[in-house]
Amino acid sequence: MEFRKLGRTDIDVSLVCLGTMTWGEQNTQDQAHEQMDYAVSQGINFFDVAEMYPVSPRKETYAQTERIIGNWFEARKKRDDIILATKVVGPGDFFNYVRDGAKRLTEKDIFAAVESSLQRLKTDYIDLYQIHWPARPANYFGTLDYPDGADLSQSVPIEETLTAMAKLVEQGKIRHVGVSNETPWGVMEYLRLSKEKGLPRLASIQNPYNLMTRQYEVGLSEVTAHEDVGLLAYSPLGGGTLSGKYLNGQKPEGARMTLWPDRFSRFTKPRAQDAVASYAEIAKKHGLDMSQMALAYLKTKTFVTSSIIGATTMETLKSNIAAYDMDLSDDVLADIEAAHQNNPTPAP
Ligand SMILES: NC(=O)c1ccc[n+]([C@@H]2O[C@H](COP(=O)([O-])OP(=O)(O)OC[C@H]3O[C@@H](n4cnc5c(N)ncnc54)[C@H](OP(=O)(O)O)[C@@H]3O)[C@@H](O)[C@H]2O)c1
Repeated sequence: MEFRKLGRTDIDVSLVCLGTMTWGEQNTQDQAHEQMDYAVSQGINFFDVAEMYPVSPRKETYAQTERIIGNWFEARKKRDDIILATKVVGPGDFFNYVRDGAKRLTEKDIFAAVESSLQRLKTDYIDLYQIHWPARPANYFGTLDYPDGADLSQSVPIEETLTAMAKLVEQGKIRHVGVSNETPWGVMEYLRLSKEKGLPRLASIQNPYNLMTRQYEVGLSEVTAHEDVGLLAYSPLGGGTLSGKYLNGQKPEGARMTLWPDRFSRFTKPRAQDAVASYAEIAKKHGLDMSQMALAYLKTKTFVTSSIIGATTMETLKSNIAAYDMDLSDDVLADIEAAHQNNPTPAP
């Protein structure tokens, strides 16, 4: 297993981070514990969770994934072997059941969120505490267009959020701060405040990145290159679409896009379906497993600190982790690049 530095911290994280958001919905606690055991046996030292998991999120299962991980820490006594990342939800009507709607990323909201996460995770510290999405109008979650003209006055100032995080670092409850679903302006604003006000420096940005979702390369990859705020790439298989399992109108039973076609529609729009078909052809031409080709692509990017994989079966988990031992040939990479130029970022 390859390791990369988490931002400018002294932490080395595995190139593969274990995603968790199916646990408590598509996967049981026993299955989750088997996944964690296997991941650790393969050298993975990095888990990513969020207070809102599992997905698709609903009141009845809220925070169940953190409980499952907490139970694993308690049973295996492996807390100190793992770099543990979790997230606090941002604003949005969808999550009004969280803290009775008090989730605007103010100091009060963040302090309440972290206490609950620590309890559920059965630990007294979180290695990387991430803002799940911004508390301001911005373009994230499947959109490239900026919400021009939106009312910015209701936004929570980033300084307030980061100052709350600084207090948590001082208290030893969190070690480092990360953002998610952020934009170049957002990351640079966090960095400016940390420099000018002596607040914690961002360690990472967790955004979507895969063969069909390459908008990170437009602005954020340059930020990473200059500022060492590395990408934790989520949905490296486009939610499973880049396995090819939905090609030709297939609807595999129990699979994410079959269960919740509307929630994850960013990966199934017509241009995305065209892209999946072209990547399927490339994999076939070179005799590669399509999922493994899609995952191995991520390790070719130096701006990727770690890719957060997800799996619902042990078979796919094993295959996905093994993909990071592969190196794609120049011919494969050239074909991927040609397909990208032909249909750039069809699933933002
Ligand atoms: N910050 C954020 O907003 C955010 C958003 C999304 C995810 N994340 C993080 O990133 C992690 C991974 O995201 P993701 O689950 O979207 O990743 P993904 O790799 O794009 O999709 C994983 C899903 O694809 C299917 N799959 C995986 N391997 C497969 C294979 N070899 N063959 C066929 N199907 C396969 C499985 O779903 P089915 O079995 O249902 O088909 C699996 O749950 C999450 O657990 C979470 O920690 C963060």
